Amino acid sequence: MLNFKSIIASKINEVLDLEEKIENNIEVPPNRELGDYAFPCFSLSKILRKSPNLIAEELKEKIDLSDGYISKVINEGGYLNFFINKELMSKNVLEEIGDKKEEYGSSDIGNGKNVIVEYSSPNIAKPFHIGHLRTTVIGNALYNIYKFLGYNVTGINHLGDYGTQFGKMIEGYKRWGLEYDLDENPIDKLMDIYVRINNLCKEDEVVLEKCRDNFKKLEDGDKECVELWNKFKDLSLKEFQRIYDILGVKFDSLAGEAFYSDKIENVCNILESKGVVKESEGAKIIDLEDKGLGVCMIKKANGSTIYATRDLAAIKYRADTYDFDKCLYVVAYEQNLHFKQIFEVAKYLDIPEKCVNGLTHVSYGMTRLTTGKMSTREGTVVKVDELLKEAIDRVKKIIEEKNPEMENKEEEAKKIGIGAVIFNNLCTTLIKDQVFDWNTVLNFNGETGPYIQYIFVRTKSVLEKANYIPKYNEKYISLLKDKESMQVIELLYNFPDVVKSSAEKNETSILTRFLLDLAKAYSNFYNENKIITDDKELTDSRLYLTYLVGIVLKSGAKLLGIEMPDKM
Ligand code: ARG
Repeated sequence: MLNFKSIIASKINEVLDLEEKIENNIEVPPNRELGDYAFPCFSLSKILRKSPNLIAEELKEKIDLSDGYISKVINEGGYLNFFINKELMSKNVLEEIGDKKEEYGSSDIGNGKNVIVEYSSPNIAKPFHIGHLRTTVIGNALYNIYKFLGYNVTGINHLGDYGTQFGKMIEGYKRWGLEYDLDENPIDKLMDIYVRINNLCKEDEVVLEKCRDNFKKLEDGDKECVELWNKFKDLSLKEFQRIYDILGVKFDSLAGEAFYSDKIENVCNILESKGVVKESEGAKIIDLEDKGLGVCMIKKANGSTIYATRDLAAIKYRADTYDFDKCLYVVAYEQNLHFKQIFEVAKYLDIPEKCVNGLTHVSYGMTRLTTGKMSTREGTVVKVDELLKEAIDRVKKIIEEKNPEMENKEEEAKKIGIGAVIFNNLCTTLIKDQVFDWNTVLNFNGETGPYIQYIFVRTKSVLEKANYIPKYNEKYISLLKDKESMQVIELLYNFPDVVKSSAEKNETSILTRFLLDLAKAYSNFYNENKIITDDKELTDSRLYLTYLVGIVLKSGAKLLGIEMPDKM
């Protein structure tokens, strides 16, 4: 693939001969009339002791354009703006995508590098809530994106399957388990048992003591306690699995918190040996006040470990087992402090520096529901499986109204409904809170998943109607020169870069934005240009471009975890 950014960077390097990383500073100007790429000279001003404007002016004169990649360079107030050779770009796009098809945009930049993506991580015997839905789809998308870029990726579901609450669950179940039929809605019933036993504990110290004892027994491997714990875990996993199946999400490992219970002592010993552990009211803590991060507790006064300690053990284990270059934690921003703390403590765990530096919290915002029977204002917990079912049902209704003759209604409604929910979770800048509103999420003409699917289906039907068999011809380059075609081609050219920045920034909204832009650009192209014309070559060139757009829309959506319908 012709990479104009690096071509430009090397041209600047030829002239400047600085150690600076030029390529990372090259931008796409907001106003494309001013150039296709811009190099801001402001940061060089200090090094070269000249005004940015003068630097740009001098560079402009010295840059070699003789090889024909760049057609023009101008200075715009300290920005060096480049106009690329559009014909070369077109040629490259038309040939590459035709050649690589769904592999277009993939890369080997990740070869030899290990990435862990930790996502979903719901809690056993507790509901899978709408926040868990968001981490599940974000993590899945990041997983796919990193894979596409050649990284060796491991997806981990860090199940919340440990902690003192299980001592209570066990006690509650021993008392009232037989009253409940756990074949149906087991999580609701386990929650019910949990609430009951919790209330009892508040009244009765002796019961609370029994619960604590159960947890201790569980830790020591007592047969009955372990069996019950496994039962809760199996029942919950079966429920979660239904959601994963609908979403098409998989994991390489289900090592949850309990998995680390026998690895914690070692981690505590390492920390003790570094002399960073202090005692405070019987508990063991690490003081991070000087870094503005408060105190990280690693052991309670009664000797039992906590959430943070299990996370530290997980970091150590993952570093030793996977030798990761990056470990992403897709977890809501409520846990920002927690991750800052454990990443700080990780420096003492005797793991390679690259692992410490690779620890990354991919923090995301809350989802608020506005309409429908699952409005949060009504105070009900949003059940994710019901929400997904509702998405499918709503789409089915739309199909019944608009296109009752459609084949495979059930299948298609699922792709559209689930695609809509997934897209909605990925398209807001991740750190921002988002609103979930059915009318927006399912708007076929909005900035939504269904809109992208709709444009994809249009490309498909255009090609089908024309009985099109893809074939490239160099003449297409000059036939696709109008503004609308060029806009599509430019976007297609950017796709590999978009995938890369989505990974660099761990930000799925870069890819969703791109897909929306591409869908809109194709829609303009389609409205402005008659595709079937009297001129066979012109018709073929437009069909060919249509074909390429279909490929990229589909593979971009696939990275997000969204399937394309055949009809809409
Ligand atoms: N189980 C936790 C929750 O539902 C999320 C776990 C996040 N991952 C971690 N390594 N701490 O809130």
